[in-house]
Amino acid sequence: MKNFQELSEIKEGNNYKYYSNGKWQTSLSGKTIPVHNPYNKELVGNIQACTKEEVDEIINIAHENIECWKDTPLHKRAEILSKAANLMVKWSEPLGYLLMKEIGKPINSAISEIVRTADIFKATADSRTLFSGETILGDAFEGYTKEKISMTYRVPLGVVLCISPFNYPFNLAGSKIAPALMAGNSVVLKPPSPGPLTALHFGIILEKAGLPPGVFNIITGRGSEIGDYLVSHHMIDMISFTGSSEIGENIAKIAGMKPLLLELGGKDAAIVIDDADLNVTVKAIVTGAFSFSGQRCTAVKRVLPMPGIADKLIEKVTEETLKLKIGDPANDNTIGPLINSEQCGYVQGLIDDALEKGARLICGNKRKENIIWPTILDNVTDDMRIAWEEPFGPVLPFIRIKSAEEAIEISNKSKYGLQGMIFTENIDLAFNIAQELDVGTVQINGKSARGPDHFPFLGTKSSGLGTQGIKYALEAMSRPKVVVMNLSERGKLVKKCSFTEDY
Ligand code: NAP
Ligand code: G3H
Repeated sequence: MKNFQELSEIKEGNNYKYYSNGKWQTSLSGKTIPVHNPYNKELVGNIQACTKEEVDEIINIAHENIECWKDTPLHKRAEILSKAANLMVKWSEPLGYLLMKEIGKPINSAISEIVRTADIFKATADSRTLFSGETILGDAFEGYTKEKISMTYRVPLGVVLCISPFNYPFNLAGSKIAPALMAGNSVVLKPPSPGPLTALHFGIILEKAGLPPGVFNIITGRGSEIGDYLVSHHMIDMISFTGSSEIGENIAKIAGMKPLLLELGGKDAAIVIDDADLNVTVKAIVTGAFSFSGQRCTAVKRVLPMPGIADKLIEKVTEETLKLKIGDPANDNTIGPLINSEQCGYVQGLIDDALEKGARLICGNKRKENIIWPTILDNVTDDMRIAWEEPFGPVLPFIRIKSAEEAIEISNKSKYGLQGMIFTENIDLAFNIAQELDVGTVQINGKSARGPDHFPFLGTKSSGLGTQGIKYALEAMSRPKVVVMNLSERGKLVKKCSFTEDY
């Protein structure tokens, strides 16, 4: 089932269209952007390079369709999301195959990305009761009575702009689209230019699931050309963005007074105490650092081992790393191509800098086309770029530490604050370190990871703003609406008890 029978007019030849008001359209710019398979450089398709006028048009359409969608009953919105989830599961293989080709993700992980997105849609549809609201009586504050009653329920924000990154282009679009639609917003999706094709299929999926035209729209084009215009557009009411800290921080500067949900970069550190279970720790570090060739915001990006375990740990991690399969993502190799050759150059620069400054190469530092062999560096020190920068590639630095205090200091010195890990059998110590780490989430005896998707997911400092996770995203994409009843004295019942003066 590798050849996905296209179900609509989504493309003409190799040229995919953008999706506006329920129609697949060709940009008047006359320009397209090629999408190449990062493994073999084959052309997978072209996307439309939309113009600013087309951005205006698509946002207008989303705006015009707010009313109809926000008045659609919640149970109906949930039904459409559930149907969309079923279609994703049905098409998970061909969609996964397309995803594998456009971003070089190992085939099984690519199919899992589609199924995981379906799970998010289903769980979001099941979360209807989160919109139940509350009633508060006024008499908790002196000077007010029970005759003042606030009724609070949640309403949508308007047009939500969803921007997803290349490494999870389908899933990190879906994890924004589902709560945005469920909360009653209309949506404009801007997928990444490297890896936009699978995400374009949300247009077909949602249409077939019964979503009215114009409620969900997709604009394509380079972020460097239309990004600033999109995020600062006055008719965008909320932005949910996942991507680099650099772009996220720019959005925060120029977006104006819009609510933002930003999930950005990370430099997650694994602190390994002498008493850690070696098997558990090694497995977590190797899968955490090298799945999808390290192209995950939550990848293990540095290891901070204590002196009593460092040598043994590095030996075992290296042993397991050397077993990783390298090559074609179609054969489900863990290590495959990085997204493009510029990214390979950046990663190589980090390795070269560390080696020039005295780091010890344990394995790797080999490149063929866009594939970089998993690279382990020991004796990394704080003057090396790899100690602080996010490689988004298969490079794992070991920074040897002497105490838990030093580990906390190095962890917290990072500009990022996504996740942290502590490996130890001493749960009290783990808890104490966890309390000191300035990150969104601390994993104890486990690798850093976003899921399961109903957990809160957030970063501190340059790693983000706001919280993802189904319940939290629904809250972020809606706001409370308060109606206060001020009942009159008429009809008030006579009180049965009376109090003495000094009571
Ligand atoms: P990126 O370069 O920041 O791009 C992300 C998205 O932003 C793309 O759709 C991109 O479009 C768009 N964009 C570019 N310039 C823009 C602008 N001026 N205004 C608005 N949007 C703009 O990130 P990436 O390379 O795709 O992804 C890798 C980064 O994302 C890493 O730093 C990683 O840590 C981070 N990430 C974080 C999380 C998390 O949950 N914390 C998850 C995944 C990835 P174009 O592709 O057209 O430029
Ligand atoms: O790349 C960033 C993603 O949010 C990471 O998700 O931990 O499930 O791979 P993951």
